[in-house]
Amino acid sequence: MKKLLCPVCKSELHRSGNSFRCQSGHCFDIAKEGYVNLITGSKSGNLTGDNKDMARSRKAFLDKGYFHSLADALCKIISDIQPETVLDICCGEGYYAQAITQKHNCAVYGFDLSKEMIRLAAKRKSKAEFFVANMADIPIADNSIDCAIHLFAPFCEKEFLRVIKPGGYLISVCPGAKHLWEMKAALYEKPYENEENSPDLPGFSLEKAINAVSYITLTDNNDIESLFKMTPYYYHTSAQDKAKLLSLDKLTTCVDFYIRIYRKD
Ligand SMILES: C[S@@+](CC[C@H](N)C(=O)[O-])C[C@H]1O[C@@H](n2cnc3c(N)ncnc32)[C@H](O)[C@@H]1O
Ligand SMILES: [Zn+2]
Repeated sequence: MKKLLCPVCKSELHRSGNSFRCQSGHCFDIAKEGYVNLITGSKSGNLTGDNKDMARSRKAFLDKGYFHSLADALCKIISDIQPETVLDICCGEGYYAQAITQKHNCAVYGFDLSKEMIRLAAKRKSKAEFFVANMADIPIADNSIDCAIHLFAPFCEKEFLRVIKPGGYLISVCPGAKHLWEMKAALYEKPYENEENSPDLPGFSLEKAINAVSYITLTDNNDIESLFKMTPYYYHTSAQDKAKLLSLDKLTTCVDFYIRIYRKD
């Protein structure tokens, strides 16, 4: 992995056997699954990212291909851009990073704050390389990434701007207006559409905003629950409303991904 920085002293890390080391002697072992944890004890505090249950549930759901339309849309954008390096920011359990490596020859790196997400990502044995890190302090050199992808995750525009090369791309995805509309209609009497925003990001220009829209049918109650758990609604819905959705054996719902393509000036 090129351009990886020591989280302690910010000098470059180099691979040496089963570890990454910097010139000041800081050393980070590579886990048996192949990832490296670059969160240092003192800085991690209570920050852990998504837990084991969320990680497993996300993997189980994505591995069934329900969101392949987003993976396809990303691969299409990447084939237009032709980057040499792709960084998957808050990559989760590595589904999209794997999809990109299967279709493209670019170097793909992914990181997430959650060790469990990264463990699952590394276990996919794709050509992508993974590390545990906080997006508020990305251990990657300035101006070193051609294209960063950022899917359904918190934002840290200052760090995204720093690591992306001038002229490089930031592809940021959030739920589109109709995303999971039928799921929301099963939960709530009066569902609302998601707001679609393309905020101004200093140092970037918005090149394009597109929606990738399709329908998926879930025929397994466990899949409905897994999808529900991936949404914020799971944590803000009454037990009574939850029960309405979880009693269904089948659900056809819209998946609407709002994809914004920014270019660094
Ligand atoms: C909704 S999940 C999306 C995961 C993946 N991008 C996907 O679409 O499958 C959000 C991810 O952001 C990670 N995350 C949250 N805060 C983070 C931070 N400060 N730095 C890095 N990752 C973070 C969580 O651990 C979780 O894996
Ligand atoms: Zn160091």
